[in-house]
Amino acid sequence: MRLAVMGAGAVGRSVVELAAEYGHAVTAFADSAGAVVDADSIDVAAALDHKERVGTVGEADPADALGTDYDCLVEATPTTLGDAHPGFEHVEAALERDRHVVLANKGPVAERYDDVMALADASAGAVRFEATVGGAIPAIATIEGMDPSHVTAARGVLNGTANFVLTRMAAEGLGYEHVLAEAQDLGVAEADPSFDVDGTDAALKCAILANVLHGGGYSLDDVDVQGIRDIPTSALEIAAEDGRTVRLIGEVRADGGVRVGPRLVTENDTLAVTGTQNIIQLETTNAGQLNISGRGAGGPETASAVLADVGRLPAP
Ligand code: HSE
Repeated sequence: MRLAVMGAGAVGRSVVELAAEYGHAVTAFADSAGAVVDADSIDVAAALDHKERVGTVGEADPADALGTDYDCLVEATPTTLGDAHPGFEHVEAALERDRHVVLANKGPVAERYDDVMALADASAGAVRFEATVGGAIPAIATIEGMDPSHVTAARGVLNGTANFVLTRMAAEGLGYEHVLAEAQDLGVAEADPSFDVDGTDAALKCAILANVLHGGGYSLDDVDVQGIRDIPTSALEIAAEDGRTVRLIGEVRADGGVRVGPRLVTENDTLAVTGTQNIIQLETTNAGQLNISGRGAGGPETASAVLADVGRLPAP
């Protein structure tokens, strides 16, 4: 595939760096404000240096800056809420040109899933979005493989930053602000880390899972959300005395309800993953419970999910 990569954060850069390893060529690379470079194969440092030399095209229509010399748009600009601007328009432009789209940006499939699917139905291009939920974990592919109608519920730890914060606070007795700064240094936090600690990022992932399980109809407004910002270190210490800990758990229930919030779990519970790990539990009709855990955040980890999705696309 010839990839046009939009978004020059940790994920976009890792996609550019790893594409050749997966047998793909990057033919265009732009940040969310405009064109960076247009070439058959790209060295990221050189690309960003090139950007400084040529400048950007401004915000008029960054999607146009990618040209048409690509088979698949990789949309990795920061997640935005509501109308999912400008990520949604990037997706729209690519599908209207009959190009495939692979999303790392959660906004379009969390907030405007039905609109994205309508565009895909009218296009020769396909849309995939494995990287939007659980970083490296193949959650969407697993649900597809099981057949969504046989997956009745999903729950799990879906935000690496919040999990890292809770783990470090409990293990080291460290304060919230100190640990959040560590998570930002690791490069796993969102551009706006309040998305992580207030539960918004996990709620977007739950909305995406609900859309996959129920064929659409969900957005952030449908999720009951509570974050971890107000949990004091002392509460984690008291829970630990009782062999328990707190995890930020997202749930898509069998009755269609969706919620995110801190829950007490025993320290040896399957859901008590540590650090930036994520876990997704699927309840299935005929196969009981499936548990998939792994690295839920990070540039190369999330890029591996993007590039696995590219590999699942029909040939151009
Ligand atoms: N900020 C997110 C997390 C990245 O910490 O899980 C993956 O969406």
